[in-house]
Amino acid sequence: MQSFSARHLLGIKDISSTDIETIFETADNFKDVLNRPIKKVPSLRDITIANVFFENSTRTRLSFELAEKRLSADTINFSSSNSSVKKGETLVDTVNNILAMKVDMVVMRHSSPGAPHFLSRHIQANIVNAGDGTHEHPTQALLDAFSIREKLGDVTGKKVAIIGDILHSRVALSNIFCLQKLGAEVMVCGPITLLPKYISSLGVKVELDVKKALEWCDVANVLRIQLERQQIKYFPSLREYSLYYGINKQLLDQLDKTIVIMHPGPINRGVELNSDVADSEHSIILQQVENGVAIRMAVLYLLASAK
Ligand code: CP
Repeated sequence: MQSFSARHLLGIKDISSTDIETIFETADNFKDVLNRPIKKVPSLRDITIANVFFENSTRTRLSFELAEKRLSADTINFSSSNSSVKKGETLVDTVNNILAMKVDMVVMRHSSPGAPHFLSRHIQANIVNAGDGTHEHPTQALLDAFSIREKLGDVTGKKVAIIGDILHSRVALSNIFCLQKLGAEVMVCGPITLLPKYISSLGVKVELDVKKALEWCDVANVLRIQLERQQIKYFPSLREYSLYYGINKQLLDQLDKTIVIMHPGPINRGVELNSDVADSEHSIILQQVENGVAIRMAVLYLLASAK
């Protein structure tokens, strides 16, 4: 397997297209391992990894934990909701206490953008960003692009529309960086109130009409409306959002081609995506989840090998 140039994975913005290809080739090998009767390799034996989650997660936390176990790492799990953070302990103190237990790598999710970057300036362990607020979610973008490559043979030249709540989405930003580095064309689509003002400076197409976005793209990556991050009303109601931006079978049937539907999860069924699409042959949502384990094994393996 090839080597990796970075010490941390903080964001897709910071890594090269060569690094992304290296992660994909390594993930290809690990995907083969995951399809064997014995799914475990000794690659990270004697490495201890802390999964430090200050924000809720289902897919990312379980996927990292499984990836670590498949690589034979020792893992410890920290969740802020039942920790001494509730007594006022700081981020650096919390992580330094975890590191005092001789931890080699930290996988961290935090609601504050830049929290893993801040931590990387204060501790020696490798850090993997598992989602920092509305900023980046690098392993999600990697598994998304890896899933497009698997489904369509390549990412280069493909047209990907990211549809939904772009303003509050870390998945959108990491996907834009990753897809552009791999030579895809990217469009964002949503109500104007859910598109950041700076978005066209990232070199993406901007479309307000979801039908036009679907007609343009090979792949639609549909994002969740993140009500928990919305302090004000960005659209009149979920019903109206669904009426204008919800993806349903009727919309896909009007296209003169078949497109691939993706969603990072969790899905708000009946809001941004109807079940007749989420559970259809168009959808690769569960393949994304499956690929997440191989991608996270690759990232952890490459970071540990770069030490
Ligand atoms: N895609 C994703 O990050 O899901 P979780 O919030 O469940 O980890």
